[in-house]
Amino acid sequence: MQHFLEFKDFTQAQYQYLFKRTAILKSRFKNYVRHMPLQDRTLVMIFEKASTRTRLSFEAGMHQLGGAAIYLNTRDTQLGRGEPVEDAAQVISRMCDLVMIRTFDQEIIQRFAAHSRVPVINGLTNEYHPCQILADLFTFIEHRGSIEGKTVAWIGDSNNVCNTWLQAAEILNFQVHVSTPPGYEVEPERAGLHSTGHFTEFQDPMMAVAGVDLVTTDVWTSMGFEAENEVRRKAFEHWCVDTDMLAAAKPGALFMHCLPAHRGEEVAAEVIDGPQSVVWDEAENRLHAQKALMEFLLRGELLDDQ
Ligand code: CP
Ligand code: NVA
Repeated sequence: MQHFLEFKDFTQAQYQYLFKRTAILKSRFKNYVRHMPLQDRTLVMIFEKASTRTRLSFEAGMHQLGGAAIYLNTRDTQLGRGEPVEDAAQVISRMCDLVMIRTFDQEIIQRFAAHSRVPVINGLTNEYHPCQILADLFTFIEHRGSIEGKTVAWIGDSNNVCNTWLQAAEILNFQVHVSTPPGYEVEPERAGLHSTGHFTEFQDPMMAVAGVDLVTTDVWTSMGFEAENEVRRKAFEHWCVDTDMLAAAKPGALFMHCLPAHRGEEVAAEVIDGPQSVVWDEAENRLHAQKALMEFLLRGELLDDQ
């Protein structure tokens, strides 16, 4: 049994399978071909933070694969009243086949997984967002081919999404240029990195984007850090991906954002709504990539005609 708690839980070969499989499942979906390998299987989704895309893509995805999805949130479960996560894991995992959790500390999902009888998927923690980068990489491959040897610029907060890009770079062998305001730099240990060989930090965001293949960013204040909002707004004001910044990247470089976005803060409207932005494909691909992920965790690698 395998869990998907952080990006480095899977090997390069497993990602190559998942990207290939995602393309197949996407094509079946677009052509209205029924594909229901997970009939009678149940996914439980536990949310301790808000979500639009993650909930929708997992719930719709499980339904399309023939299974059922159940939504639980902290407010109206016993988790919100202090039931130990270990006990919840024992009980929940006896009643379903797969669990997805969006929570705060990575440690919570690790404790849940350690007591779960079924695979657990990280739907975002303070440290990581592996499902997002699975979809982002698939989106890059769809538009530009293999990411191996390419360079990605991460502009803004070294948050859960950034950490996951950095893990992905080690596994899939590409480079990440990171530019954060002082005091918000990458913490390699928190990011779960083996080395610093796949990323370079830049004080000046214009230097970080020079000649890169993909520019990406995320909100200045992630969920759970709202108390820092005002301080961060000031600290990050020069870390807005605008048209000048995108123009410094390679001609035709892509722009991605995991969404939700704040136009005028981390990204200019002209960039996110402009011709180099692939954010809507990126959001849609959450559905296809996570269908491949759920199928893989419950059925293993399947052949092209299965
Ligand atoms: N990108 C992402 O995970 O979006 P949600 O917070 O809407 O799930
Ligand atoms: N970094 C953001 C991502 C939201 C999908 C957050 O954690 O709030």
